Amino acid sequence: MRFSTSALGGLAAISATADAALVRVNDFGANPANLQMNINVPAKLATKPAIIVAMHGCGGTGEQYAQQTKYNSLSEQKGFIMIFPSTKKDSNCWEVNTAKGLSRDAGGDNQSLVNMIKYTIQKYNADPTKVFSTGSSSGCMMTNVLMATYPDVIAAGSCYSGVAAGCLAGSPGASPGSANPNCANGQIIKTQDQWVAQVKAMYPGYNGSYPRMATWHGTADTLVKIPNLGEQLKEWSGLLGVSFTKNVTNTPQSGYTQIVYGDGTKLVGYNAQGVGHTVPVHETDDLKWFGL
Ligand SMILES: *[C@@H]1O[C@H](CO)[C@@H](O)[C@H](O)[C@H]1NC(C)=O
Ligand SMILES: *[C@@H]1O[C@H](CO)[C@@H](O)[C@H](O)[C@H]1NC(C)=O
Ligand SMILES: *[C@@H]1O[C@H](CO)[C@@H](O)[C@H](O)[C@H]1NC(C)=O
Repeated sequence: MRFSTSALGGLAAISATADAALVRVNDFGANPANLQMNINVPAKLATKPAIIVAMHGCGGTGEQYAQQTKYNSLSEQKGFIMIFPSTKKDSNCWEVNTAKGLSRDAGGDNQSLVNMIKYTIQKYNADPTKVFSTGSSSGCMMTNVLMATYPDVIAAGSCYSGVAAGCLAGSPGASPGSANPNCANGQIIKTQDQWVAQVKAMYPGYNGSYPRMATWHGTADTLVKIPNLGEQLKEWSGLLGVSFTKNVTNTPQSGYTQIVYGDGTKLVGYNAQGVGHTVPVHETDDLKWFGL
């Protein structure tokens, strides 16, 4: 493939602008999973700022996810901190399948991610009660896992096109090429009690509350099929102690159904009619959900 030097120069200029505030941090503490930490600290940092960890999909990077989403510009407006981690293993998919990935402080991705969060809280005097997680595809799967393994660290999550925490437990990998396909195909169906027991076993003895969850999925997703939305809702409704209340159609936009549990403050799902694997990130809805 041939590119003119001026076209390449233009691309470099665009990415330099979009990335201007994203900084690589190498010294954030123990990093058993060898992840990369990229951070955006806004020019006008809020007092006791909130933190959002936003995780890319398979094959992606933190830098790319920062460019594909509007979180960085929103962080400049509102003063919260963004962390865009990258994983470089298993086709850049997050470790949502192994025993260590699915337990607390066992050396998996979640431990490296939590060390990034702890570093950021300490260095910027951030609010430990306002740490949020989001992501797309594999990043949504990891959001589910992070909320399950570190419910005391994450206050709320939102995510797009993922699977319930534990869906890939025991799978040889977590990428489309390495994973047991039954999970992505929507064939791992459990009872609510089974999901709850599986998550509780990821952090035995924990008796505090679990994070609030908003999870989005497209009905035409062929890579991670729609039954995975229902399994996530089953899992989190059990952990949060809420049950289905109502569906609100055409919310937040035409063709999306908001699936409300309880009074809608702890758990909601969004079923996006006819949308495929790339459900557009709804950054402003995420911020509302997080209370930012
Ligand atoms: C996730 O957390 C659990 C529980 O601390 C831990 O055992 C496991 O190693 C962690 N996984 C990753 C990927 O950090
Ligand atoms: C929760 O766990 C803590 C620490 O193990 C314990 O002190 C506390 O009594 C427990 N609370 C309940 C309601 O079980
Ligand atoms: C609510 O919406 C979901 C997703 O469209 C659907 O699966 C479910 O059957 C609906 N429930 C009711 C009671 O209409």
